[in-house]
Amino acid sequence: MARLLSRSLFPTDQPVEAARLIGRDGDVAQLVNQVVGGANRVVVGPRRTGKTSVCRAALGRLKTRSRYLVAVDLFDLAGPAALAEALAVATISNRSAVRRTLPKARSLSRHAVQLASGAVSARLKADLGTDIEIALLPDLAQRDPERYLAYALRLPEKVAEVDGVEVVVFIDEFQELAAGDHRFGDPDLRTKQLRSVLQDSPHVTCIFAGSIEHLMRDLFAPRHRALHNFGGFQHLGPISVDDWRAGLTERFAEDGCHIAPEILDVLIDEYGRSHARSTMLVAQQTHIAAVAAGVRTITLALVLEGLQNAMSADSAHHQAAVDRIRSLGKHAFATALRVARHEAPYGGVTDPKTVTRAMHALRDIGYIDEPAERAGPWRFADPLLGRYLAGF
Ligand SMILES: Nc1ncnc2c1ncn2[C@@H]1O[C@H](COP(=O)(O)OP(=O)(O)OP(=O)(O)O)[C@@H](O)[C@H]1O
Ligand SMILES: [Mg+2]
Repeated sequence: MARLLSRSLFPTDQPVEAARLIGRDGDVAQLVNQVVGGANRVVVGPRRTGKTSVCRAALGRLKTRSRYLVAVDLFDLAGPAALAEALAVATISNRSAVRRTLPKARSLSRHAVQLASGAVSARLKADLGTDIEIALLPDLAQRDPERYLAYALRLPEKVAEVDGVEVVVFIDEFQELAAGDHRFGDPDLRTKQLRSVLQDSPHVTCIFAGSIEHLMRDLFAPRHRALHNFGGFQHLGPISVDDWRAGLTERFAEDGCHIAPEILDVLIDEYGRSHARSTMLVAQQTHIAAVAAGVRTITLALVLEGLQNAMSADSAHHQAAVDRIRSLGKHAFATALRVARHEAPYGGVTDPKTVTRAMHALRDIGYIDEPAERAGPWRFADPLLGRYLAGF
């Protein structure tokens, strides 16, 4: 019997399809219920824990004829003009006639657009104003980014009114709005603008997702920030060990593989530490090792090989992380090593302030997670990176 692809059974490079999520039923249901109730949500969690997967699964359930979806990912966008264009395209793509003609129209000149999609674009302009051309003509938004972004931010409400629908706007990697390069402009001004538009958009409900929890909290929580109290926070905790056990057992079984519970627990608890992407990567690499060995019984030796291959697969990423940490200064690197080795971060340090600063710097770039309880241990968000540094 031909073997199934390890990458399909255990994907690690993109968000997971709704039907293939392990666990997360409660998170998805909670998000759907809140949005159905018109409550804005801010989904936060460490990197690569499944935020986008959960949000997309929720959007899939929210998609009905009487609800439009507008999804953009700030990570992919270079600045205000790109954001304006992405919002406009995503908003009008909810209309089926537009969805059919838009990809072709965007590859044509202004004149050809009129010929090829004349009726559709005339209707769009009549309903939504002539600025909707930013969705049809790539690069037009570049000519006046501020004007077009102001227009695009108001578009979801406008389309909601014209088409008589509710709109859900999903902005992924929202922390990019406050990222160090300020490529979307001054974060304070931008969030003020966003809030004032959204307050004026009674038919629009938002989901914001972001990786770097404290940045997200800084954007939404402090009183002086425009988004203060704008949305309820939804923290994505780890996927439960029981869900991992059931999910991974089932995945291995799809390829006729058997894994004994005690071996599975080593993979989940010790190597993947229930971190979504790391656990999946070790499982994927274990499966690759099993296929290479031509076996379907997953032994501890295969799981160990899976771990080693997962570490090699991520080695470029680990090396880049080391460079990044080193660039934060020598205290940051020494502190990172102590956290990785589960040593007391302040042990034997003469100036504790330098350690606190280093911990905060590591937290701010999303590498280590603040303990849930005050006295709890700081941990590497990505257990494979922690393992790499512990071996330094
Ligand atoms: N529920 C899940 N079941 C199985 N694997 C998952 C699940 N959620 C996340 N993963 C794993 O984590 C990877 C990243 O998922 P996703 O892109 O949704 O996370 P994210 O938190 O949005 O990541 P980022 O911080 O990069 O935005 C997936 O490719 C998959 O390997
Ligand atoms: Mg994501």
